[in-house]
Amino acid sequence: MDEFERAKSLFPGGVNSPVRSFDPYPIFMKSGRGSRITDSDGREYIDYWLGSGPLILGHSHQAIVNAISEQAGKLSVTGTPNELEVELASVIREALPFVEKMRFTNSGTEATMHAIRLARGYTGRNLVVKMEGCYHGSHDYSLIKSGSGLLTHGVPSSPGIPEAVSGTVMVAKYNDIESIKEIFEECGENISSVILEPVMANAGVILPKDAYLRDVGRIARDSGSLLIFDEVVTGFRFHWGSYSSTIGVKPDITILGKIIGGGMPVGLFGGSADLMDHISPSGNIYQAGTFSANPVTMAAGIAALRQLKQENYVLLQRRAEKLASGISGEIRNSGRECAMNSIGPMFQFFPGVGKVDRYEDLSPVKPRDYFSIFTRLLKSGVYLAPSVFETNFLSFSHTDDDISLTLESARKVIENSGS
Ligand SMILES: Cc1ncc(COP(=O)(O)O)c(C=O)c1O
Repeated sequence: MDEFERAKSLFPGGVNSPVRSFDPYPIFMKSGRGSRITDSDGREYIDYWLGSGPLILGHSHQAIVNAISEQAGKLSVTGTPNELEVELASVIREALPFVEKMRFTNSGTEATMHAIRLARGYTGRNLVVKMEGCYHGSHDYSLIKSGSGLLTHGVPSSPGIPEAVSGTVMVAKYNDIESIKEIFEECGENISSVILEPVMANAGVILPKDAYLRDVGRIARDSGSLLIFDEVVTGFRFHWGSYSSTIGVKPDITILGKIIGGGMPVGLFGGSADLMDHISPSGNIYQAGTFSANPVTMAAGIAALRQLKQENYVLLQRRAEKLASGISGEIRNSGRECAMNSIGPMFQFFPGVGKVDRYEDLSPVKPRDYFSIFTRLLKSGVYLAPSVFETNFLSFSHTDDDISLTLESARKVIENSGS
């Protein structure tokens, strides 16, 4: 593959983000429309990866394309405030009223990094608690996994992260309230915040147990710590608003990303006015960005959120359930266990295991079992998330025919392989 050979000479592993790489080589895409994406050889795929989540309206949605083209011809970056940032922020506050003030960033990574700084600066405490298996972007405070025991500090999951950094992060177990209780009993007065994905979306899909998130919030607040929900994936995914509002939990800081940029680079962190006013220049906690709230992203985000307000999320969920249960059913029919987790338009199936309720349940999962289905579906024109530890997404542009075609392909590839 010529393009990949060239890419390998230019980028580490030939890619600009590791999850894009898979054997024997990643596929280069050149265009997309609706539920379909087309590669550089002209082959079309039904796309359930959707740019790793932003494209809930599908590829090249006309309202977003129009907004981007119009804005790009007018003004791209200003180094000044612009009206569009005010408009998008107002729309977001309408949907998430507890996000009274916010800051736009260019990625989810930036937003979680700045949210952690805000929590530390506000509380005057250094420790942060994260959950094993939750992902908050690729900055140093996110790439930390659990150490030898629960009450030891986390260890870096990548070289290049100093122990001075990992020593400020403690790692709890998602869906295990005892693990967070223990950490808070030991060092609650030094903990600035707990950050987590309310629904895990970077370890396949793992749903929170009843009352778990409420209990985490209570434990954090009893110790004067802040609760940070990373809704980069879940924001505007299940309805026109946050996941937190569907379960009646109000985090102190909410992180958004992906969907709110309509496919353009974006992130956001926000919370009460009182808290957010600690950010510079109204406060002394520093945060900045040349491209933050750039007008093109803002225009795309406004178009996306306006469109989403009119969409039928119930229908979207029904289609996703049909697809997810269809694929996992085929695997079970072939004589193998297969856990399947889904919520709204997000789903993942785990061939070879009976249930995945916690991150630890992933240890018997053999990534190549999923990957072999991924590869064979790819050949038949279906593009799933490239790893069992990622999430498949459905968009409003997927039709019942797309689902039927996908299930037909899944039936063939699973039947013919015995997996
Ligand atoms: C939950 C979550 N938080 C943060 C991020 C980082 O966002 P970005 O890739 O825009 O930096 C991601 C990325 O997938 C994510 O899934």
